Amino acid sequence: MIEGNGPLYGEVRASGAKNAALPILCAALLTDDTLTIRNLPQLWDVDTTRRLLTQMGVAVNLAGPGAVEVNAASISTCVAPYELVKTMRASILVLGPLLAKRGEAQVSLPGGCAIGARPVDLHLSGLEAMGAEIELDGGFINARAGRLRGAHIVFDTVTVTGTENLLMAAVLAEGQTILDNAAREPEVVDLANCLVAMGATIEGAGTSTIRVQGVSRLHGAVHSVIPDRIETGTFLIAGAITRGQVRVTHTDPAMLEAVLVKLQQAGAGVETGGDWIEVDMRHRRPRAVDIHTTPHPGFPTDMQAQFMALDCVAEGVGTIRETIFENRFMHAQELMRLGAQIAIEGNTAIINGVERLDGAPVMATDLRASAALVLAALSADGITRVDRVYHIDRGYEHIEEKLRGLGALIRRVTG
Ligand code: UD1
Repeated sequence: MIEGNGPLYGEVRASGAKNAALPILCAALLTDDTLTIRNLPQLWDVDTTRRLLTQMGVAVNLAGPGAVEVNAASISTCVAPYELVKTMRASILVLGPLLAKRGEAQVSLPGGCAIGARPVDLHLSGLEAMGAEIELDGGFINARAGRLRGAHIVFDTVTVTGTENLLMAAVLAEGQTILDNAAREPEVVDLANCLVAMGATIEGAGTSTIRVQGVSRLHGAVHSVIPDRIETGTFLIAGAITRGQVRVTHTDPAMLEAVLVKLQQAGAGVETGGDWIEVDMRHRRPRAVDIHTTPHPGFPTDMQAQFMALDCVAEGVGTIRETIFENRFMHAQELMRLGAQIAIEGNTAIINGVERLDGAPVMATDLRASAALVLAALSADGITRVDRVYHIDRGYEHIEEKLRGLGALIRRVTG
């Protein structure tokens, strides 16, 4: 339940990045030694990954606040069951490491999801090019391989988890792998840094060509997860949409350049330091901005819904073009329940900004859509009830506590 109560002010600390934490947890499958992971956020998706690993026989133990030690020496099964995969598509990230280290993997097919078809064909064809035999049977991906062989892989489409899966497969493969048209997201770089700390030889992470020289074994390491740029951006919008002033600390401005440019275009003052970003929208109404989602370093699809919320109360007309995922406008219907004026034409949303939104019951449909609804509610008159809030717990750590710290009137009614 959220009661719009005016500008938010103050400081909030960014958590570790969900999308870096998930592949890094799976990277522990690549060694029999212990991988210690720090700055791990407390999220549903992290917990799902922990359960996925423990049901395989992997030991995952707490090692202080926000830290775990993962040891896969006693792995007993290489199966990722449907019950877990259906709740989190990123479960596919166990496929590459299991094949590379154990020579086998059985991973339930993720299937469709709320934001489009999201196939995994590029993960599979890349692994086949490295020598894996893959069959689809009974809803499962059954994969087998001797030692994988290095290969030259050119991705048809830029895929984040696809790049990560093949990167994890390549580090233990025989010879050199070249990943072309690779994802350049900071989370891919963080995974590569963790793998290098484990003894891998990788060049070019963060560019569209990654070169991996396979090694015969990896060892344990200690790795700290990068800050969550999407959570950071969401809190900056919370400041902007309520016409307040919010500073996010323990973050990295370099990862958010495309987002900060859009906040400036919306009329916000943006200041950055080494590990903080502050947005200042006091005493003025945001201006509508146009957004076009593209792979990193372009504007991230995971910030699209939050900017739509901002455009809903901005001055002027904003256009949002979603090019990464089909069907990623489900939040638009819910925002309209709050009085937003949005027209959808194919993959483009046209938002005519209104002076005020009005609180209403709404329903979260996916992770970032739910963030957009919370943001809109913070700026709306009256009370908004956001249902199915479990979506938000998948990717935002204690969001209601963090927003309360900025002065928001928000409380969790049920889990
Ligand atoms: C990751 C992120 C997600 C983010 C997305 C895009 C994680 C855990 N999730 O998702 O938060 O929104 O990147 O930045 O990191 N595609 C294919 N075939 C494939 C794989 C992908 O056609 O084999 C297509 C998808 O349908 C989509 C596009 O490629 O249209 C990009 O998807 P991808 O980068 O793979 O998204 P995820 O890695 O699932």
